[in-house]
Amino acid sequence: MDVVVKKSKGLIGEIEIPSDKSISHRAILFSLLMKEGTYYIKNFSNGEDCLSSLNAVKLFGVDAQFIGKNDLKVIVPAQLKSPAQPVYCGNSGTTMRLLAGILCAKGFEVVLEGDLSLSNRPMKRVIEPLNQMGANVSSLNNNDKAPIVIKPSSHLKGIIYNSKLASAQVKSCVLLCGMQIENSASITKFIEPFSSRDHTERLIEFLNGDINVNNNEITIKGGQKLTPKDIAIPGDVSSAAFFIAAALIVPNSHIKIKNINLNSTRRGIIDVFLRMGAKIEIINQHVVSNEEVCDVIVKSSKLKGTIVEKEEIPKLIDEIPILCVTALFADGKTIIKDAQDLKNKETDRIIATYKNLSQMGGKITPTDDGFIIEGGQKELQGNVSLECYHDHRIAMSSYVCGLMCQNAITIKEFEWVNISFPAFLSLFNTIKQKEHKNVNK
Ligand code: S3P
Repeated sequence: MDVVVKKSKGLIGEIEIPSDKSISHRAILFSLLMKEGTYYIKNFSNGEDCLSSLNAVKLFGVDAQFIGKNDLKVIVPAQLKSPAQPVYCGNSGTTMRLLAGILCAKGFEVVLEGDLSLSNRPMKRVIEPLNQMGANVSSLNNNDKAPIVIKPSSHLKGIIYNSKLASAQVKSCVLLCGMQIENSASITKFIEPFSSRDHTERLIEFLNGDINVNNNEITIKGGQKLTPKDIAIPGDVSSAAFFIAAALIVPNSHIKIKNINLNSTRRGIIDVFLRMGAKIEIINQHVVSNEEVCDVIVKSSKLKGTIVEKEEIPKLIDEIPILCVTALFADGKTIIKDAQDLKNKETDRIIATYKNLSQMGGKITPTDDGFIIEGGQKELQGNVSLECYHDHRIAMSSYVCGLMCQNAITIKEFEWVNISFPAFLSLFNTIKQKEHKNVNK
């Protein structure tokens, strides 16, 4: 599906963003780690990635059904069963990497497969620590990529893993394997260079698991099963980021976004926007299912460039493409460093972001580990037809940039947004103004 994006006259209104993708994955995948019982998930993501996790757990005998549009009833059986077929993880790295850790300790032989993009993403980062723990995990084609084969192992042991990567997927994979090691005296410790998103740790704690977090060192005991408990999932700050950025850069905008997750490991994009001078007000902060939630009010703002590096990167890794869009319209230069893992996302996001923004007329230079962006632009030329490289976030970032182009742009295969945000276009249409209104006095 091609989508044509025209220059925006302003964004005004109040919206609610769909469910957090990372928490949705965990809320359903953790059914494979629970005692027998029933629980409800309120506001589960209907993006294709989370449906991959939902379909995966069903293959093991978990009964999970939608009751209403976004709520799930999940029945965890006393015994899981071995799946009769390979587990298809679609486009979802989180499904594959978390499942790898969960399944190592189950005593089944399982194959995890993915689509073309997922089959090209690195899996050594999970295969290596799991095998150090005594698991039997390998890449079917011996290339450290999917499909991954997991065979039963009777000698799992806890390890101390000093990770070079600050990756929540790798951290979760190791911890989820470690908590199932039969011997409850076994300890698994994961040390990360910088804190990555901590939804796994929060949800384990919420479901009565025993986990200890000491800055970047997370320790978990073996022999644990989680307790089925109802989980309410807030809106996704990574999805909200497209609306926040759009309201900041499109003149005459004023929006309110309700119910988004803003825990300290996910709020990097908000902190960077605030540092750039953004008019963002955070209100109504409260805690739901051990996650911090809030509403935000955003107004068009005069922004200035910034430098983003090191420990800030894991806190906004998925928001870097939309940060690049925003930086084009900030005064001065923005430099993004230490983000080389962008090359390993759904596509190489350094190349894809550079190609699309520069084709629209943005002054952006790709580097080995990020970008240099020359800001100060009032609008871009546009008048181009863009690929989204099978990447939902490249599609949505390009769309927001299109709102600031003098001439309309076309984005091809826009249906890739369905991976995380099927309602993206309809939600934008509710806040787009048909004529100029000056709201930003
Ligand atoms: C995720 C972690 C991040 C992020 C991905 C979701 C998660 O990946 O990019 O979209 O839910 O754990 P890494 O952990 O590989 O950085």
